[in-house]
Amino acid sequence: MLLTYFIFGLITFLMTGAQCEVTEVLVEAGSQAILPCKSDSSSPNPPAIVWSQANKGTVWRRQKSGLHYWGAIWSHRVRCPHSQFERGDYSLQINNVREADGGVYTCQVQHRDHLFENVVMLRVIKVSVSPAVPTTGSDVTITCNVTPGPSEDSVQWKLNNSPFVSQTRITSQRVVIPKNVVKEKATMKLTGNWTCVVYSKGKEGRASASLSVKGIIQPPKDNKKVYAAMGSAVTLPCVFSPGLNASEPLWEKLKASYLFNPAPDHLPPSFSQSFLSSQVPWDRSASVEEVGFGDEGKYRCSGTIGEQRLTRYMQLVVAKIDSTTPSKKKASMTLTCQLTDESEVTEYEWVHVTYDLNGTQSVESIQNGKTLSIGKVSDENWGEWACRFYGKEGILGNVTYNVQLMSGLSGKKSAGLSHNTTAVVGLSILLVVLLLILAQMYKNHQRRKRIFQYPALETIVHTISNEREERERSHVKE
Ligand SMILES: *[C@@H]1O[C@H](CO)[C@@H](O)[C@H](O)[C@H]1NC(C)=O
Ligand SMILES: *[C@@H]1O[C@H](CO)[C@@H](O)[C@H](O)[C@H]1NC(C)=O
Repeated sequence: MLLTYFIFGLITFLMTGAQCEVTEVLVEAGSQAILPCKSDSSSPNPPAIVWSQANKGTVWRRQKSGLHYWGAIWSHRVRCPHSQFERGDYSLQINNVREADGGVYTCQVQHRDHLFENVVMLRVIKVSVSPAVPTTGSDVTITCNVTPGPSEDSVQWKLNNSPFVSQTRITSQRVVIPKNVVKEKATMKLTGNWTCVVYSKGKEGRASASLSVKGIIQPPKDNKKVYAAMGSAVTLPCVFSPGLNASEPLWEKLKASYLFNPAPDHLPPSFSQSFLSSQVPWDRSASVEEVGFGDEGKYRCSGTIGEQRLTRYMQLVVAKIDSTTPSKKKASMTLTCQLTDESEVTEYEWVHVTYDLNGTQSVESIQNGKTLSIGKVSDENWGEWACRFYGKEGILGNVTYNVQLMSGLSGKKSAGLSHNTTAVVGLSILLVVLLLILAQMYKNHQRRKRIFQYPALETIVHTISNEREERERSHVKE
């Protein structure tokens, strides 16, 4: 570095000595350029000054008398403020510099006894983007034009103030892309401020242009995780650039197992992709009224802009609270915060939400961790329990559990018990009835067995009774 400065200083010294110093001025198109012209010798009498552009004639001229003139094409875009003359400063100001202004300028100051001359090289830098607003996936070219241009190696690119090195220096047609040109497939990553930094003979100049890429701006990246509590409503965002009306908008759920060739899955039953009247046409967000645990997974939103099919992938993560009641201690319970994907979660927090008589909510943080044990289901534990989950950048979401619901659950449990009791009682009655029937059948069987043992006796008894009846009848007749 020191060496560079030394050499540069030496060159400058030599050039000054040779009276042919060329001052480099690098400015951005549209801005103001100041072409320096400073002479050491100042005289009380104002000198004659001529600013001219090589091959193009006079730019601005001042006679000793004080009269000054502009070159025809310059009109009032140039100025040479005479307030600075006393200090020997005859610099020329050019407003709203155009690319065509670039070139060599000469300043000639005619003092009474000597002529001072300075040569300035004006380089105008302009960054242009083509097309002005590209669509994601299409080609975009950012060009840094320097007029007149130094060697192209003297150009460096910065995107949002960070150095940008293009990976594609050679096109598919084997054409080498010059360093002052960036040719890329437009992505949201390329949006922002593009600055071209030009170095020439120790001087540095820069120009900028902003690039915005049309496409899906929300979510800005693929695979964003959207968190929802089971049973709650959730919005799956898909917002295109303002004014961008995508045709054939489509929402799909994708099966997790298909990594490379995703297969469509069923959308949740309460999925709604018809956009609301409050939504602008480029907002293609969808909503799920009531998220189920099985609704988790990958979703894809897409739409066609021109010839580009734009897609955005996202992942729905569903949270729920599982409660378990250890059988021994009926009064206590354990709540567990369950997420279908917890890769982003760094921390869990349990809070107890209570409401006073006015309905004002107050939140009390109880503990950190995935599970919470509630000692006793008592009045003080009533209300809402919420599991908040946090990622690296703050809260991701929460899921709540109602203790009233919990007591309802235990009620259900006791109802279940009584149901069992009913069943047991019913079964017992059935058994008793069956036993009774069996007993009766057995009795009948035994009687029949006894009768069949003595068939003759039966006949005798029968005959005897018949005879008796007959006798009685005849008795009545008599
Ligand atoms: C309820 O609201 C009233 C007035 O709005 C206030 O005076 C009172 O202190 C509140 N009570 C509680 C428990 O916050
Ligand atoms: C849970 O999230 C909802 C929606 O973001 C919020 O309104 C609510 O206050 C949160 N509850 C707790 C206890 O943090």
